[in-house]
Formats: sequence, structure tokens, C-alpha cells
Amino acid sequence: MKTNWYERAVVYQIYPFSFLDNNNDGWGDIEGIISKLDYIKDLGVTAIWFSPLYKSPDYDYGYDIADYRAIDEKFGTMADFDRLLAECHKRDLKVIMDMVLNHTSMEHPWFKKALESPDSPYRDYYIIRKGKQEKGKLLPPTNWASTFTGSAWERIGDSDEFYLHLFCREQPDLNWENPKVREEIIAILKFWLDKGVDGFRFDVFNMFSKVYPFQDDHQKGTFQKGGQYFVDGPRMHELLKELNEKALSLYDSYTVGESYHPSKENALEYVRRDNHELDSIFNFAHLAADNIADKKFFWKPFNLRQFKDGLFQPQKDNYGLGWNTLVLENHDNPRSVSRFGIDTKNYRYEAATMLATITYLGFGIPYIYMGQEVGLTNCPFDNIEEMKDPVSHFVYDLMTSYGMPKKLAFNFIKYGARDHARVPMAWNDSVNGGFNEGALPWQKVNPNYRQINVEKDLKSDKSIYRYFQKLLKLKKESEAAIYGKLEEYAHDDRQLIAYSRQYEDEGLFILANFSKRPAVYEAPAELVWSGVLLNNYPELENKSGTLKLKPYQAVVLQLAQPTNKK
Ligand code: GLC
Repeated sequence: MKTNWYERAVVYQIYPFSFLDNNNDGWGDIEGIISKLDYIKDLGVTAIWFSPLYKSPDYDYGYDIADYRAIDEKFGTMADFDRLLAECHKRDLKVIMDMVLNHTSMEHPWFKKALESPDSPYRDYYIIRKGKQEKGKLLPPTNWASTFTGSAWERIGDSDEFYLHLFCREQPDLNWENPKVREEIIAILKFWLDKGVDGFRFDVFNMFSKVYPFQDDHQKGTFQKGGQYFVDGPRMHELLKELNEKALSLYDSYTVGESYHPSKENALEYVRRDNHELDSIFNFAHLAADNIADKKFFWKPFNLRQFKDGLFQPQKDNYGLGWNTLVLENHDNPRSVSRFGIDTKNYRYEAATMLATITYLGFGIPYIYMGQEVGLTNCPFDNIEEMKDPVSHFVYDLMTSYGMPKKLAFNFIKYGARDHARVPMAWNDSVNGGFNEGALPWQKVNPNYRQINVEKDLKSDKSIYRYFQKLLKLKKESEAAIYGKLEEYAHDDRQLIAYSRQYEDEGLFILANFSKRPAVYEAPAELVWSGVLLNNYPELENKSGTLKLKPYQAVVLQLAQPTNKK
């Protein structure tokens, strides 16, 4: 049943809230998505991943699901979804659904029933424990921290019990130890697979399994208090194998997991082909090259070496054993052209195309986040009230509670906020950037939509979209770009990024200047190329093997013969 179609896939991610608001009510919708499927298809992608479309009270904007089998009203109906699926398939676009299975919404009927009575069988669907009595005070059962700041436990009313939530308090964690919960989950996966969807993105999957019995975390300086007891838990591999055996492997499905701080060993085990767990997981290590300790909000000067290490390591680790993914943006990260020390004002086209070239020709499936294909930038938010993401508010509140002045705290948040990528798409220069016909959008519109929008990009001589088309065509048609082994060059160089991909007789060499200063690359003697396949500048300056690269210039060379770099 199962084929490896994903190996040649290129995925486009849609954040439905902000893609296109067809009925002008302020929220993006399915009808809006359908109207742009040709635009997406023409880019050269082969699959679409939809951030959650399910019924949700939106405390975490869809990542808190209240009904796994219903489409949220603001997006449309199930009939609209069925049409979307059919329209995608008509265009040979695969459909990947987001599945948030670590937690539900607090408004999910299971959770409501669980709270209704202490004897409810649904109580065991969640993780509920008695608090600790200390010096006459009721404390949470453990000292674990929520990923989104504060305690990971919420007291149930005025009882002495608490429920676990590793994210917002409105997102209670499911108890994967309960076989009934797993049965429900398998039935949900089958419900969507039977409808014909082609795969899933599993949200924060490596937190499904927890270490029992629960205990306080006394380790110092960890990424999150309690992390050692709920990340990569002891039953993780077994749980994934069960999903695979009972649902995923029965269809021609593909899975990508969003893992949270996985160990290097586990990261490989999750995707190792003979393990039959997941087909791929996301790698975000390179995206931490401009923030401290992998915390989005803590800016540090961009470190290219770290970017290269983060980007290439999993490509090397997984090669020949399992598959990989290639990501620059998503709904949880700022826009890529607005970070990494990039001079966006002067080199937006060059930087956007350079980033895509060096990332997507690596080993793995390119993931493109909506708007990235026209180089959308971060949004100049003016104050915290304009930000909708609860995490921005949690972090802001935390910082101000420690005495940080409000303005400073806001500037802090602004750098890494998830809100940047979540503002409405800029389609053209009409009202609200063409997102709708003038109703107040749920989220601020980036005021630069008159300068940067899809329509303008498509008309420009320097169209990022058109460059992406060429790049993705090359990616899909080149065996080396899909199956080639990756060898890195110029590793220690602080401006350049360079690697080859070689498969049988075919070889590509990808070279780029990741800076706004000109750069020089002395090509090693073993590197013999027969042509330039792609270039984000009109020319490549080459004086007997000394290549001079302009700011953010990226080129793809066709190798004349395999290099023998070991
Ligand atoms: C993932 C999602 C993020 C969400 C979180 C909790 O990281 O990408 O948007 O807030 O999980 O579900």
C-alpha cells in the first residue's frame, strides 16, 4: 500500500486564518484557499499542509482542537473541505492534515465530561493528579514548566487536583497510557485517511509519552523544567509503531513529526525507515543561529557556522536510513528574510532566493510557508495589543513581571514573535492587501503590502516566485537533488555556504554568499563544472576557478564529473 511519494514532494504550508478571506468576515477560509490552488500548483509544489482547520476555540489558534472530525465554522463546512480535497487531488496536490494529539482543547467533550464528575471514565483520558501539600499550601503535583511559561499544572476548580498541560492551560495533555485514548486517536486518523487525505503533520509528537511515576525535576539549566520527564519519553517508539501498524501503514500515507528538543539518537530513530514510525521529522536547528539557547525571543548576532551545522547535520545523519525535511519558515517563526542579519531593505530578492537555494537543494523535502515565495517580511507591530499569539503575551507578561520596562519587553518579543508569519497574506495593493474586501482582519495587516505583494512580485523582473519555480523544477527533476549524498565545502568560511550533491553520474554544486559583502571562493581543483543551472544574478564572475560572488548571490553548478572529496 505504502509508496515513497514523499521523497519527491515539495510541501506548501497554509495557515488558514490568514491565507484568503473569501466571504469577507475577517478570517481566512476554505473557499479562499480553493480560489488560489492554481497559484500554489504553478509554484511547483506537490503537496499542501494545512495548519489546523478543525473546530477550535482558538486559544492557541487552532492548535487546541475541540472536535477532530469537524471543520471550524469560520473556515467553512465539511462539504467545503471535501471539495478542497477533491480540487487538490484534481491538480495532483497531496493533502497533509495537521494533527494535534499531545493535547486537546479544554472545550473538547472528553475534557468537559472528565471535569463533570470524578467518576467519569473520561478522567483517565487526561493526566490528573493530586497536588502536594507543603506547609499548609497546595502546590502542583510536580515542578514542571509549561512550554509557554508558568506551571504545567492547572488546579481543577477548588479541588486538590490538577491537570497537566504542557502548553496553554486551555490545552490539557492527553493520557497516551490509556488504550482507549489510543483507540480514539487511531479512529480519528482513519477517519481522515478514509476521506482520502494523504498524510499528517504530528504536532509536538515527542511529548506523547511521559515518565512515570511523576517526579520533580532537580536538574539545573535545562531547556524546560521537567523536560527530561516528558520529551522523548520511554514509550515514544512503541506508540508511533502502533499508529503506524494500525492506521498509517494501511494507506499510502506520509507523516512528518514536529519534535521538540529530541535527542540526536531519537531524532534518527523516529525516521529510520526500518523502524516503521514516522517518514520524516522537522529539523529547526539552523533556525536557532540567531537566538540564544534556542529561545526565539532572545536575539543574538547571526552565526553562519551554527546555521550550517544545524542545517546539514540531520542531512548527514539520516542519509540512507530515513528521510529529511528542509524548512526556513512556518507559523511559529519570523519571516526568514527579516532575520539572520539579512539586509532586507536592499537585498530582499537576493536573500530570499539565496536562502531557498541553499536550503531546498539539500537532502530532504522542501517546506515552503505561504508568502515565503514572494519574500514577505516581518510585520512592524506597534504594541503588544496588536499581537494575537498567546505566547507573545505570556513572555511579555513574564518579562514585565520581573521589572523589565514595557517598551524593552515589547522590543524583545518583536524579534522572534510567531505573530509575524501569521498576519494576512499580501496578495495585491488593494484594501487589506487583497486578503479580503475590507472587513477588519482578525490580525493586523502588514502595512508594507503596497510595496510587497504577490501581484507585484509576479510582475517584477526580479520575481521571487519565478525563481522558486525554477528552483523547485530543478529540485524535482534532478536525481542528485533528491537522492544525492551531501558533501560540505568551505565549512569554516564566515560568508560562504557550499555543498555538493552527487548521485550516480549526476552532481550539483550549490554555492552562496550569505552576506551583503562581496565574497570570493577559490574552487578546489577537484571541482569541475560544465554549466550554471541556476543563478540569482545575471552573471557569475569566474576567473580561472576563482568565483566572485555578489551580495547574497547563489548559484547552482552542474558538475562535469563526480568529485572525489571524501
Ligand atoms: C506546535 C505548533 C504551535 C503550537 C504548539 C502547541 O509547536 O506548531 O503553533 O502552539 O505546537 O500545540
